[in-house]
Amino acid sequence: MQQLTNKRILLGITGGIAAYKSAELVRSLKKAGADVRVVMTSGAMEFITPLTLQALSGNPVHHALLDPEAEAGMGHIELAKWADLLLIAPASANFIARLSQGLGDDLLTTVCLATEAPMALAPAMNQAMWKDGTTQQNIERLQNVKGKSLHIFGPDAGEQACGDVGPGRMLDPDLIAAHCADLFESGLLAGINLVVTAGPTREALDPVRYISNHSSGKMGYAIAEAAREAGARVTLITGPVNISAPERVNVECVSSAREMLESSLEQLPQCQIFIAAAAVADYRPLNIANQKIKKSGDTIELKMVKNPDVVATIAQHEQRPFTVGFAAETQDVEDYARGKLEKKNLDMIVANDVSRTDIGFNSDENAATAIWPEGQQAFAAMSKTTLARQLIDLIAQRYQQYTDLSRTNED
Ligand code: PMT
Repeated sequence: MQQLTNKRILLGITGGIAAYKSAELVRSLKKAGADVRVVMTSGAMEFITPLTLQALSGNPVHHALLDPEAEAGMGHIELAKWADLLLIAPASANFIARLSQGLGDDLLTTVCLATEAPMALAPAMNQAMWKDGTTQQNIERLQNVKGKSLHIFGPDAGEQACGDVGPGRMLDPDLIAAHCADLFESGLLAGINLVVTAGPTREALDPVRYISNHSSGKMGYAIAEAAREAGARVTLITGPVNISAPERVNVECVSSAREMLESSLEQLPQCQIFIAAAAVADYRPLNIANQKIKKSGDTIELKMVKNPDVVATIAQHEQRPFTVGFAAETQDVEDYARGKLEKKNLDMIVANDVSRTDIGFNSDENAATAIWPEGQQAFAAMSKTTLARQLIDLIAQRYQQYTDLSRTNED
């Protein structure tokens, strides 16, 4: 079961007997698809060696705050920015106390201060230490810190290493991994059937050649994954790409624009939201040669005919879903995108500038402006995964207003 695919989890391990379970936790997180990096406190290294965690995570383990080598590579700020989630397991009473005071006296506390990612603590300590009023106050203080999203996983109750019985055991590693996966599921689109198109189309010239474009599918695949995380049942209609499809998504592979349209129309009866991130060829060769075209003169003439417009056909259909297009432009990005929004009868369009090499086609990052009839929202350059999540949040909001309005009009 891959529920943390491509998620970057920074695992902080603090000093306590439960630190031995962190090895199992790294395996559970990796099994769920996460990329895991480990930061250890000096106390943690008394219980388990960095080498064990390095071998299991497949990444160097970090522990020193003032390490010139680390600062050149993955210092505390880079680690803080890298993480999608900062998980501290086990979180000792001492670490929780230091964190609640805002201390930054070792690598792990400085990463905690510097990160904007959500944080989760899996406390582990003696039952009396957990029940102690100061520990409880520290937890409460952390939960009330403005601008930080903090989750507490556990602790479990039962027999403890010291022989006591009560609450304070670190949760089972598989359960912690499952809780981490739940954090990425927003539920905003729970029960919604959503279709995403992604990647390029290929328009055949002869049996061995085709016309296509630079789309890698990364943006559309990230949208499909973010929609699934938001609880939607997702169908991904994809042109030919070289990346793996997200787990738990229904994948329909197509090649040409006409195949993409056919597949989209098949999905239409059960589709509530349609998102067209694919770079569909506007034209295709008029004739496809049955045999490989032979080299002859110095020039060759190619006659092209217009392809059907997939997203416009869906948006103009009598059973139209809430329809979102993408616009890939090299100049006057917003103006052209607004024109497509109107002409294709879309509910929203996401405009991106494909003249830039650092974003857009094939890159891991993108910047965009989402435009709808009554407004717009700009998104600065960020990873396609993060942009997809933010776009899905916005699409879920707009879809909610769209359905509320449709209901009011019916009454
Ligand atoms: O795949 P990546 O490498 O991650 O790159 C992402 C991306 C740049 C391809 C993506 O973010 C993007 O902009 N996709 C839309 C590309 C595109 O075809 O733009 P367009 O402006 O030509 O088309 C506007 C809209 O009409 C798009 O939603 C497109 O899917 C749709 N269209 C276009 C032509 C056509 N015949 N049928 C369509 O459905």
